[in-house]
Amino acid sequence: MSTKKITAIRGMNDILPDEIIYWHYLENTFREIAESYCYQEIRTPLLENTALFHRGIGEATDIVEKETYTFNDRNGDSLTLRPEGTASTVRAGIEHSLFYNQVQRLWYMGPIFRYERPQKGRYRQFYQIGIEAFGMPGHDIELELLYLTWRLWEKLGLAQHLELHINSLGPFAERQAYSAALVEYFSQHHDELDEDSQRRLLKNPLRILDSKNPSMQALIEKAPKLDEFLSDAAKQHFAFVCQGLDAAKIPYKINQRLVRGLDYYCHTVFEWVSNDLGAQGTVCAGGRYDNLVAEIGGDNVPAVGFAMGIERILLLLKQRDLVLQNNPDIYIISEQNTREAALELAELIRTMNSDLKVLAHCGDGSFKSQMKRADKSAATVAIILGEQEVARQTVSLKYLRETKDQETLERKHLNAKLQQLFNVRS
Ligand code: HAM
Repeated sequence: MSTKKITAIRGMNDILPDEIIYWHYLENTFREIAESYCYQEIRTPLLENTALFHRGIGEATDIVEKETYTFNDRNGDSLTLRPEGTASTVRAGIEHSLFYNQVQRLWYMGPIFRYERPQKGRYRQFYQIGIEAFGMPGHDIELELLYLTWRLWEKLGLAQHLELHINSLGPFAERQAYSAALVEYFSQHHDELDEDSQRRLLKNPLRILDSKNPSMQALIEKAPKLDEFLSDAAKQHFAFVCQGLDAAKIPYKINQRLVRGLDYYCHTVFEWVSNDLGAQGTVCAGGRYDNLVAEIGGDNVPAVGFAMGIERILLLLKQRDLVLQNNPDIYIISEQNTREAALELAELIRTMNSDLKVLAHCGDGSFKSQMKRADKSAATVAIILGEQEVARQTVSLKYLRETKDQETLERKHLNAKLQQLFNVRS
């Protein structure tokens, strides 16, 4: 039998207990904001039929071409671990008639899988928080999503550290005319294209604009511009979005080269970008995708949404020195023969003060070693319940974070004391 150590799969991370508090902080902050905008959570399976992503995201996208985890199950059906949340949400909405004659404001949170080259901020299993809004064709819902994300950045203290890049791709017909113009232009310069761009020329010409290759930049700069192909109606739609951002004093940059790496977008697309994360600076991205519901088999339902990478936002929060601690408020110290009484006391305190975090010592440990653990736990106070205390119906309180004498008080006064110490709602 091999004794080789079994480790986690490359690019897939454990989230350990001292990390999780940051995750909860972000998740809870987002959840509160999403609820205040009346968005409802949806949970879809991690596995879907492979065809969903081929149809939804596009055959010629990087994600579908080279990044999915796809395998046949025991039945021979081709399944794929979801490489994003939008196609699954659309599939679920169609399947359960969520879009029929109604609008939907939905959000989700969970793991996403992409076979990419792992590096800081880029993983093979990562987590997204996303929003998808269905049944609303105008600029109003696009603005609502941008306001919501801005509110989140403000709440997290990140608003000054993120830049909003925004662009309009116009409706599909106009984008197609633009695509054709790009193909013509880049074909004339075929020899100057790098290998990636030559491949994209036939399959996905807009993506050439996304190229980061320095030797491609001059050529891209001179390429036809998308706004030359947009109708007045499409320009007006985008102008309303920009005006709404101005009105809310949300800074933004119009970036005509922003086309996004998934095929389903039209009209407004956007990315929130940080300069503090190196190459993986996009923390949140999305846009309108009016054709996707029909493409996956539903009616013509306009839609818009975005997704953010949780790990990237947490990297930013840590760079901003956010320190969160998940320490107990109270550490209960007892002796072997007062252990049951101590557990009972802990239950009572939790019942009476549901906001307090109470850690009751279990297992071995001398009085002295328990005191050391109490201190290390960063609890505010230790409650000592020894034989003497039990016999006299008292408890001893030791202040762990201030130089105050230990005090002994009658059990019946403990709750009032805790309320005063922690200022809690009972
Ligand atoms: P996306 O741009 O592919 O869009 O991903 C959204 C966000 O997920 C990125 O901006 C980034 O923060 C994070 N992300 C992507 N790949 C990785 C990775 N390998 N490791 C860590 N984080 C990553 C979508 O997924 C669309 N479904 C967004 C959307 C929703 N559009 C409309 N509705």
